[in-house]
Amino acid sequence: MTTDFTATKALFDLPAGVIYLDGNSLGPLPRAVAPRVEAAIRTEWGAMLITAWNKAGWMDLPERLGNRIGRLIGAEPGTVTLGDTLSIKVFQALDAALQLRPERRVILSDSGNFPTDLYMAQGLTGLLGRGYQLRTVAPEDVEAAIDETVAVTMLTEVDYRTGRKHDMAALTAKAHAAGALAFWDLAHSAGAVPVDLAGAGADFAAGCTYKYLNSGPGGPAFIYVAPRHADQVQPVLSGWLGHDAPFAFEPGYRPAPGTARMRVGTPPVLQLAALDAALDVWDGVSMAEIRACSIALTSRFIAAVEANCPDLTLVTPRDPQARGSQVSFAHAQGYAIMQALIARGVIGDFRAPDILRFGVTPLYIGETEIDRAADILTEVMATRAWDRPEFHARAKVT
Ligand SMILES: Cc1ncc(COP(=O)(O)O)c(C=O)c1O
Repeated sequence: MTTDFTATKALFDLPAGVIYLDGNSLGPLPRAVAPRVEAAIRTEWGAMLITAWNKAGWMDLPERLGNRIGRLIGAEPGTVTLGDTLSIKVFQALDAALQLRPERRVILSDSGNFPTDLYMAQGLTGLLGRGYQLRTVAPEDVEAAIDETVAVTMLTEVDYRTGRKHDMAALTAKAHAAGALAFWDLAHSAGAVPVDLAGAGADFAAGCTYKYLNSGPGGPAFIYVAPRHADQVQPVLSGWLGHDAPFAFEPGYRPAPGTARMRVGTPPVLQLAALDAALDVWDGVSMAEIRACSIALTSRFIAAVEANCPDLTLVTPRDPQARGSQVSFAHAQGYAIMQALIARGVIGDFRAPDILRFGVTPLYIGETEIDRAADILTEVMATRAWDRPEFHARAKVT
């Protein structure tokens, strides 16, 4: 073991008395973030003013940090850039893939995909018209549904609700065998499980940085384009910062070489500064060790909850290789149960209609936290502590 998980935990500013099992939704605050953002505000923005775009390297942040993320997802250097939100990056990747398969009309996805991916695909197919369509099948039926009509598969590797994990290498190979391209949403993969985009032969990928990568609320998304496609793609969102020479201010759009053409507008410098500091946590961290530890912890949590909470139904695959780094249970009163847990300092979240989600991030969660969380859940279930009016009142964000 080369990763020191005691040391990584100390890099986070976690509130006392809280067991944070929601890093799969919003990662906690790394201690280095506030000083780094403060420096970006005072030393760079405040003192350098507009000269900071050059002097502080602001303009290069999307590619520099793209390379840092690339190391965690098996991407070749220079193939990842940052900016916008994941919804936007999904749109860009899908449009690019459809351009590369002009004779085909189908985007294939699964019914467990995150709604924004499906919505963006619906928006894109509606915009394109001409018979373009989104086809969705059950997650376990994706492989059989890949045929010669499919232009691109759009799959979230780890299902946001159940934690079920697709086999990226196998499905990418299947897509390629059918002449299709593969786009992967890594929202619940980057920083959670080892990803090997280049090894799997993925064509496009995108993900968010505010979950397991801990960049903070609204942190920018990343996008990957395989080097073999990067100079072929004509960006649909042809913004000036994806132009080959933004400061030539030419009237016509000419894409920059490579993945940088997927940039759109001005980079979110302060959020990128936060991400830069958050990525320091990953220096010296082995993704293989994260995975081994995550499997041990999720297995431990499943065993404890199943032994003590018979009313909760496991919806996450029991086979560790078939799941990501979260554990989900179904219960008709899932929302109220989660509120009762949060009131006791165990923070997970709820996904409609009935899913309690617990994200397990070995960077700052260990056996002690897992055991304590399972004990508190057991107490909440055994005493029906969730059955109080205040726990049933639905908040805007669940
Ligand atoms: C799988 C997946 N895709 C896309 C999104 C949405 O990304 P954004 O809000 O950054 O556009 C999320 C958000 O949780 C997600 O889980």
